[in-house]
Amino acid sequence: MAVVSCTKVITGEPQRPILPQTAPDYRTEVAPIFDVQTGIEEGPNLNERAQLGRVLFHDRMLSQNGAVSCNSCHHQSHGFAEPRSLSSGLRQELTERNASHLANPGAQFAYFWDGRANDLRTQVTMPVENHVEMGFRNLDDLVVRLEQLDYYPDLFEAAYGQPEPTIDRIQDALSSFLRCLVSCRSKADDAFVEAMPDVWNPWGVLQGDIALTGLSDLELEGFELFHGKAQCANCHGGPHFNGWGLDFADIGLDADTEASTFTPIDAGGGFFGGGWGPTAMKVPSLRNVALTAPYMHDGRFATLDEVIDHYSHGIQDVPTLDPRLRDWNTGGVTGGPDLIDPIIFPGGTTFEDVPPVRLNFTAQERLALKAFLNSLTDYAFVEDPRFSNPFTTP
Ligand code: HEC
Ligand code: HEC
Repeated sequence: MAVVSCTKVITGEPQRPILPQTAPDYRTEVAPIFDVQTGIEEGPNLNERAQLGRVLFHDRMLSQNGAVSCNSCHHQSHGFAEPRSLSSGLRQELTERNASHLANPGAQFAYFWDGRANDLRTQVTMPVENHVEMGFRNLDDLVVRLEQLDYYPDLFEAAYGQPEPTIDRIQDALSSFLRCLVSCRSKADDAFVEAMPDVWNPWGVLQGDIALTGLSDLELEGFELFHGKAQCANCHGGPHFNGWGLDFADIGLDADTEASTFTPIDAGGGFFGGGWGPTAMKVPSLRNVALTAPYMHDGRFATLDEVIDHYSHGIQDVPTLDPRLRDWNTGGVTGGPDLIDPIIFPGGTTFEDVPPVRLNFTAQERLALKAFLNSLTDYAFVEDPRFSNPFTTP
C-alpha cells in the first residue's frame, strides 16, 4: 500500500497503533505543593483526547516523508529529551538546539529555549511545519495526511464526537497529551510531600524547622547546597526547579559572546521572546535531569559533572552574564543585583565590573549536588504506559 501525501509518496505498510479498549485515566493526582496546571478542566473526554494525542505524538506520519515522529526527538526513556546534542529531522538535517525534555508543561509559562512560545496549544504543531523537524508546508497538508490513515476516524470520533481530523482538534489532542505528562513521583517528590504537604518551603528545611527525612544524608546535603551556598535555587527555584516556570538567564557559557552559539531567533510575538535579552535562555526544569543528557540549549555538556564544573569555576565574564552569577561579596560592591535595570555604583562601577562567582565546589559538595539531582528522577513517569509508543509491535 502507498500513502499519497501532497508532495511525496511514502511506500510500505503504515504502522498501526495498539491501544487499550478504553482510554486509561490520564489524570495524575498531584499534591498541592506541585501546582501543575494540566488544563484538564478545559473540556470533556480528556482521556480520549489525550489518547489521541499519544497516537499523534508517536506517529511518523506526522512528518512529511514519514521519517520522524515527535518521539524521534523526545524519547520517553530519556524524560522526553534526546540523548544527543542536536536532533536530526526528516531529512537528517540538524535542529539548531538541543531537544527539550518534557515534564509538567502545565507548570511552565514559556516554551522553547528562548521562550518564544507561550501557548502550548499552538506550539505543539510548530514542529510539524518546521522544515528541519517535520517538514509539512502547512497544517492543511497534515489534515489531508491524517484523512488517509484508517485508524484516525475512530480516535477523533471518541475524542470529539466527529471522525474528521481538523487543525484545531489535532492541536487540542496533542496539547492535552502534553499537559498530562505530569512528573511528580520521584524519590525526592515523595520526601517533599511528606515533609511539606501544603507549602513549598526549602528555607524551613535549611533552618532546621522541617525534617526532610525521605532523602539520604548525601541527597539532603545536596538539597541544602542547591538552596543555599551553591545558589542554584536563585534560578532553578520552586518545586519544579524551573524558576517557577518563567525565568531566563545568560549563564556565561561562552567567553566571546560574538562567537557564541546563541542565535537569537525571531521572537515571533512570543510572550517573552528572549527573556532578559537575546543571549538569555529559559531556566529549564531539572526534573528527570539524570536522564536528559546532554545539557544546555546546545547540548554542550555530556554529563552532570561537566555542568557542575561550569557552575563551580567555568562561568565566563561576559557583559550579558546574569547578575545572579556575579560575586556580590567581592570588589567592595554591596547590595544585590537589580534584574531589570543595570545598576551604577558610586565611582562609575557597574555590575559588569563585579566578577563571576567562583563557588569552587569541594569533592564532597560535588557528590552531594549530584546525589540530589539524581533523586529527581521519576521512574514511574518514564515507564508509564499511558505515555508510551503505541506503535511498538508487541
Ligand atoms: C527533529 C527533532 C524534533 C521533532 C521531530 C520534534 N521536536 Fe519538539 N523540540 C525539538 C527541539 C530541538 C526543541 C527545542 C527547540 C528550541 O528551543 O528552539 C523542541 C522543543 C519542544 C517543546 C518545548 C518544550 C519546552 O519545555 O520548552 C515542546 C513542547 C515540543 N518540542 C513538542 C514537540 C511535539 C508535540 C512534536 C511533534 C509534533 C515535536 N516536539 C517534534 C526537537 C524536535
Ligand atoms: C542565573 C540563573 C542560574 C543559576 C544560578 C543556576 N542555573 Fe542552571 N541553568 C540556568 C539556565 C538559564 C540554564 C540553561 C542555559 C542554556 O542552555 O544556555 C541552566 C541549565 C542547567 C542545567 C542543564 C539542564 C538541561 O536540561 O540542559 C543543569 C543541570 C543546571 N542548570 C543545574 C544547575 C545547578 C546545579 C546550579 C547551582 C550550582 C545552577 N544550575 C545554577 C540558570 C541558572
